[in-house]
Amino acid sequence: MNARRSELVERDLAVLWHPCGQQRDYQDFPPLEVVAAKGCRLTLADGRQVLDAIASWWCKSLGHGHPRLRAALIAQAETFEHVILANTTNEPVVRLCERLLALANGFGEDAWGPGAPAGRRDGHFARVFFADNGSTGVEVALKLALQAQAQSGRPRRTRFAALANGYHGETVGALSVGDCGLYKDTFAPLLFPCAMIGGLPYRSGPEDPRWQDVAEEWPAIERALAPLADELAAIVYEPVLQGAGGMRLYAPALLSRLRAWADAHDVLLIADEIAAGMGRCGAMLASHLADDALADIAVLSKGLTGGFLPLAAVLTTQRLHDAFDAEWSAGKAFLHSNTYAGNALAVAVANAALDAYAEEAVLAQVAANGPALRRGLRALAETRPFLRDVRGVGMMAAVDLRQRDGSPLDRSQRTGWRVYREAVARGALLRPLGDTMYLFPPLNTGPGDLRAMIGILADSVDAVLG
Ligand SMILES: Cc1ncc(COP(=O)(O)O)c(C=O)c1O
Repeated sequence: MNARRSELVERDLAVLWHPCGQQRDYQDFPPLEVVAAKGCRLTLADGRQVLDAIASWWCKSLGHGHPRLRAALIAQAETFEHVILANTTNEPVVRLCERLLALANGFGEDAWGPGAPAGRRDGHFARVFFADNGSTGVEVALKLALQAQAQSGRPRRTRFAALANGYHGETVGALSVGDCGLYKDTFAPLLFPCAMIGGLPYRSGPEDPRWQDVAEEWPAIERALAPLADELAAIVYEPVLQGAGGMRLYAPALLSRLRAWADAHDVLLIADEIAAGMGRCGAMLASHLADDALADIAVLSKGLTGGFLPLAAVLTTQRLHDAFDAEWSAGKAFLHSNTYAGNALAVAVANAALDAYAEEAVLAQVAANGPALRRGLRALAETRPFLRDVRGVGMMAAVDLRQRDGSPLDRSQRTGWRVYREAVARGALLRPLGDTMYLFPPLNTGPGDLRAMIGILADSVDAVLG
């Protein structure tokens, strides 16, 4: 990697504060100067191509520059780009609601693809509220749950529980229900308490014989929930895939257990599908990997617009919506507003993304190509004692960097960061989570590019640890 800094990088370092990192790191490892992006490839100013193996923070579900999404964006921009969503409506936003509900309710592509009929098909989810990014979508979900409980005669249900090691975004409410100390601890004085439920049934993926078995772990989880049963407004979780917490997977059957427990105790469930949904885990919602496991509130973002534009959709049941239905004077309205809620450009692109998911058989591509990711990482780990705990589902696979004896690396050595630098030099953006390396490419990445990503991962870990 040529560390000589271009004129643009010099200007960047003078003005730009990059997200989620130590700015000083950019002094000797400058930001990559992107001039174009197509599919899973970024083109840099010096002509090099870099594979986007992390789908640009997990959002580019359909790759960069998807022509259908681009055309939808341009067409909408020529019509109207944004109109306040309070007091107004338009056909694309209503259509998107109908399609998202059908998708989340588990109907097939005929119900949410390009030819989907107009109108709502009855099912579990019945309403869509829009926010403008994942974190604010989570805030909406928390507020909806609290207010719904209060307006359903349960005003003392004001607490939240969440699964340990979870991540739900960076705003204060989302951080409060998250459990990643790296992002959260500094802000502790601002955060509200949340009960973290540990002892999760971690598994390696669908090939794990206990993938759908939580018999061993559930009793302790139930015991941890029991004292909270009368206080909880809701339980928040990333279904199946805990992304920022280290790309860890737990048995989908836990969701069915939580659903039954929540129903028995008048507790609501909030599924944060922001990273795990929209096909990433091999189903349109990760919650679909379990039976009878739909939450009361599901939050979608990231892949919702194929990663083109920020948008979050918060899906709820009719029952929950009914708790807000009253005369104005009753003071029961949900008074949350994000200026760009339901932004017309983002909605147009989201509709086009659903067209693409259906017409390009994206789930079938994940089913065909995704297993190669985890097979590839398993093959690497067989001959490398410093690669441990391979796991994967859908179009995601991860592995931990360890000492040769399997013990954790000294985090101060920043081994993952060193591997990252090696990978960039070899042509892949492989941004690790501490010492966890993972592949999270666009869902439509083909077998050749997946092989290339695995090859670069192998060469890069060998360069650092081999
Ligand atoms: C599971 C999960 N929830 C919430 C968020 C926050 O989304 P955003 O970055 O759009 O605010 C993320 C982002 O990575 C996420 O992975």
